[in-house]
Amino acid sequence: MVLDTRKFRLHLKTETFGREFHLFERVDSTNRVGMELLRAGAPEGTTVLAEEQTGGRGSSGRTWQSSPGGVYLSVILRPELLVAEVFQLTILAALGVVQALGQASGAPIKIKWPNDLVVVDGERLAKVGGILTETRIQGESVVGAVVGVGVNWENLVPESGACLQTFSRHPLDLALIAASVLGGLEDSYTLWRECGISPIVTGYERHCIHLGQPLQVAGHDGPGRIIGIDHCGALRVLFLDSTEAVVAPNQLQLGYVL
Ligand code: BTN
Repeated sequence: MVLDTRKFRLHLKTETFGREFHLFERVDSTNRVGMELLRAGAPEGTTVLAEEQTGGRGSSGRTWQSSPGGVYLSVILRPELLVAEVFQLTILAALGVVQALGQASGAPIKIKWPNDLVVVDGERLAKVGGILTETRIQGESVVGAVVGVGVNWENLVPESGACLQTFSRHPLDLALIAASVLGGLEDSYTLWRECGISPIVTGYERHCIHLGQPLQVAGHDGPGRIIGIDHCGALRVLFLDSTEAVVAPNQLQLGYVL
């Protein structure tokens, strides 16, 4: 399945995201190319798209299976942000993408903290997409970032994955999915720039599957309850004795069993 650039341009409703784009039939990683373009001075919104990746990067150093039939894209951002707040980019991206894909496909897509896009499939959560943010840092500041999004549409997927096509109410194509994702990303990024992280957190929590779930945290007696995320993307857990703990994204991995 190919990404039709004429259709892509037609569907794209953004101001800047995707207006300048580089499309590859096959590339190692759109994030790798994005980081190179970032270093070379490419403007915010520059987008890298691929129909297939041979070295797709996933979170925690994993690989992202990227056979033809999926959407693989990366966008260059030049935010004003402290390193300590860098996870805000992933949070806002997850919100933008889940809203856009939900609207385009009609599928009940949710966010599995911190950066997975999932659908409930019987007794399990099936991963239909993921987000990987990579950054350039100078001192305490993030001076540039590449937000990468992978969407499983009709490509081969690993065991924990599923194709969004199976759950979609509409017959989408790769061009429309890519344009929608970029629209969602731009909307969310604009909201973040204009209003800060608070409305992003509220939106993210609305789409997050974990709210209200019990969670055992080391150093606490008995499980607490997940009540949301904080401004750095950490899970907030409330215990019976009214104390609260935060669990950072790199401290915990939640499973796919419901
Ligand atoms: C995850 O592990 O959930 C994050 C996956 C992110 C994959 C996307 S595909 C487009 C972009 N290029 C990459 O190499 N990775 C991201």
